[in-house]
Amino acid sequence: MQPLLHIDNLDIQFHTQEGIHHAVRGLSLRLGEGETLGLVGESGSGKSVSALAVMRLIPNPPGKILRGSISFNGRDLLTLPMEEVRRIRGNEIAMIFQEPMTSLNPIHTCGDQIMEPLILHQGLSKKAAQERALELLTMVGIPNPRQGLREYPHQLSGGMRQRVMIAMALSCKPKLLIADEPTTALDVTIQAQILELMKELRRETGSSIIFITHDLGVIGELCSRVAVMYAGQVVEVSPVDRLFNAPLHPYSEGLLFSIPDIGKPKDRLFAIDGTVPNPFDMPPGCAFSPRCKYVQPRCREQVPPLREAENERFVRCFMRQL
Ligand SMILES: Nc1ncnc2c1ncn2[C@@H]1O[C@H](COP(=O)(O)OP(=O)(O)OP(=O)(O)O)[C@@H](O)[C@H]1O
Ligand SMILES: [Mg+2]
Repeated sequence: MQPLLHIDNLDIQFHTQEGIHHAVRGLSLRLGEGETLGLVGESGSGKSVSALAVMRLIPNPPGKILRGSISFNGRDLLTLPMEEVRRIRGNEIAMIFQEPMTSLNPIHTCGDQIMEPLILHQGLSKKAAQERALELLTMVGIPNPRQGLREYPHQLSGGMRQRVMIAMALSCKPKLLIADEPTTALDVTIQAQILELMKELRRETGSSIIFITHDLGVIGELCSRVAVMYAGQVVEVSPVDRLFNAPLHPYSEGLLFSIPDIGKPKDRLFAIDGTVPNPFDMPPGCAFSPRCKYVQPRCREQVPPLREAENERFVRCFMRQL
């Protein structure tokens, strides 16, 4: 079956004063209809940039998509005219941004911003859109939703802005929802409510979700598959339970052991030795090789390909590709 989203061999660079930063390198991912895929990886590994590329929101300059395709429902988003992309954005594909102010417009009230796509894409009357906006703000836990409709983004706290943005993203019941760290800025109870909301959306509309997070607990609760990114590359893709039971990539292993509640209990928190490679001075072979405790001479010379290591499990590591 054709997947809803198929990212194939995507390469993205940023031209900065320090030089060229190859932020996403050969990214390939598939997402089925109704599927929830988790995307994890260290800060700076290219998770947000990959998501922004799906929305055609990579700023150019400094960003440039060098190669690859992003097929959504059989159409390549990278070659579609912008007008078509705009029609798809906020209607068929919605994104909850890591930074709420990226998507909220400071000069319009929250109500107008939630109502606009409802009127534009769904053909609702102004009154019906207002009712729906009120319902959505109540759903995401805005304490006084009627007042919330009238407020401007800067009048709200960070957490409230995040909720308004979630309401906007859910309003059109998108086929694909990309949630970039949607709950990181929120307190735990609200986090749980938002996750419930997403599950509800998925039940109701069969939406597919890409969920970007640092929280592996959330991945376990929400996602069926997970992709692990390191230094701009996917290093492992696996069903969540199998990754949790037996990670294949040494970086995934480190990631799992660095959180206290998954894996065996231990006296102190484990941290992966070393730091992420300097993007302007990447090691020649495997990007993780300088930190890898299983490193072999070959790993320092050749970049391992992403290969199927077990049924439905893909890994970018020579050790698993004998
Ligand atoms: N507009 C930009 N100009 C220059 N470099 C950028 C730009 N946007 C992103 N990058 C670089 O691309 C790399 C990947 O960034 P990205 O935001 O995708 O990381 P991330 O995996 O989402 O990290 P985090 O977990 O911190 O959100 C980073 O090193 C970042 O500095
Ligand atoms: Mg990010």
